[in-house]
Amino acid sequence: MSKTFYIETFGCQMNAHDSEKVIGTLEQGGYAQVDDEADAGLIVYNTCSIRDKAEQKVFHRLNEYKRMQGEGKRFAVIGCVAQQEGERIFEKAPYVSIVSGSASYRNLPEMLARLEAGEQRITGLDDRQTDQTFETEFVSRTNPHRGYITIIEGCDKFCAYCVVPYTRGKERSRTAASVLEEARRIADLGYTEIQLLGQNVNSYQDPSGAMTFAELLAAVGQIGGIRRVRFTTSHPRDFTKDIVDAIDSYETLCDHVHLPVQSGSSAVLHAMNREYTREWYLERISWIKAARRDISMTSDIIVGFPGETERDLEDTATLLDDVGYDAIFAFKYSPRPNTPALTMLDSIPEQVKSARLQHLLDRQRAIQRKNYERHLGEEMDVMVEGHNAQRAQVIGRSSQNKTVNFTTTQPILPAAGSYVRVRVTQVFPNSLVAEAKVV
Ligand code: SAH
Ligand code: SF4
Ligand code: F3S
Repeated sequence: MSKTFYIETFGCQMNAHDSEKVIGTLEQGGYAQVDDEADAGLIVYNTCSIRDKAEQKVFHRLNEYKRMQGEGKRFAVIGCVAQQEGERIFEKAPYVSIVSGSASYRNLPEMLARLEAGEQRITGLDDRQTDQTFETEFVSRTNPHRGYITIIEGCDKFCAYCVVPYTRGKERSRTAASVLEEARRIADLGYTEIQLLGQNVNSYQDPSGAMTFAELLAAVGQIGGIRRVRFTTSHPRDFTKDIVDAIDSYETLCDHVHLPVQSGSSAVLHAMNREYTREWYLERISWIKAARRDISMTSDIIVGFPGETERDLEDTATLLDDVGYDAIFAFKYSPRPNTPALTMLDSIPEQVKSARLQHLLDRQRAIQRKNYERHLGEEMDVMVEGHNAQRAQVIGRSSQNKTVNFTTTQPILPAAGSYVRVRVTQVFPNSLVAEAKVV
């Protein structure tokens, strides 16, 4: 087997960052990354199973592997489908050599050694026992401007619809010292933006007991050279007021909180095992709204959960009005293996789910159209991400994570990664238009 690899990644930001660490680990083991599967000795597939569609994609791709067998290639299936399906992957796709969930990546060097020794079926599967996290100094950072740090892995919340507790192991945090050391290393590399990651990032519990999540946020925000700190995803149950206070106190902490509500109906939230009510959630929102800074709020929503009525849906629609999110990610409920909701009747027909989804998206669009107006005339710093040559615009992102397209009279366009002060001249429901301030 040639020591070259091709990797493809699906799923959430945690998975994308896992791939950065897996790539770093492979490179440390003497493997070189290639852009074309045809040139690779080892094909790695980092998978997602959050919804049925995501999982189908994986099996579709596994079938495509078939035509590549016999070329001396080896295959590794890692990530959430790997953990969920385990050794069944070998039955479905006998040409696969490694099946590993994310809670076993710290053993990758050993798995690679066994692969090179010619072993056929190597597994790294988790039984929700391990307290270990995957920490490596070998991270192949693919985003040139934003450095990701996983501070907490796994999930102990067991929402009725969700695979994550079964695919990512139990909740376990890194020490604050190790997080801060990585953050300083990232700053030394020239990054100005750091994003802290966790399935429930604010459920963070420093094993050394030195810091709360809010204190860790503040500490990362005070590292020299760091201008923006983001964190995702926050869980309402562990959302404490000191997080809002930290954002108010440290300008470097971005004025944006992603706080998925899932449903605006307390009855549905109860059935989902979210362990909070609409009122309890709205109290957290009121803390955010009471902040001195204008903190942008975004959310995830599931429609069509078993038993959801039109009335429940209307509760979600009015919650959208009450909160005034700047963006939502809404999904149709998808029954998942191993989850408690699988025993409930998936009672809402597909067309009804689609109609409910559309209803919420329409409602939200109207909210955003009005919401974004508050930025008209505002001055803000934008981090440049790229250029749109066609429209002679620079594309960037605000601290609130909004897309800002701006023009500049400077003869040389600002480089990606730099910050430019702009004034907003026009607003759309999903983006802002601005002009660079003449300095
Ligand atoms: N830990 C985070 C969410 C992680 S999963 C939280 O609790 O908020 C990302 C999103 O996928 C969830 O917020 C949820 O909206 C959606 N999701 C998870 N399981 C799903 C399922 N079975 N069907 C549809 N959407 C789902
Ligand atoms: Fe899934 Fe719930 Fe855990 Fe989020 S908190 S990852 S939705 S089980
Ligand atoms: Fe998917 Fe696993 Fe992330 S299921 S969304 S890759 S935690």
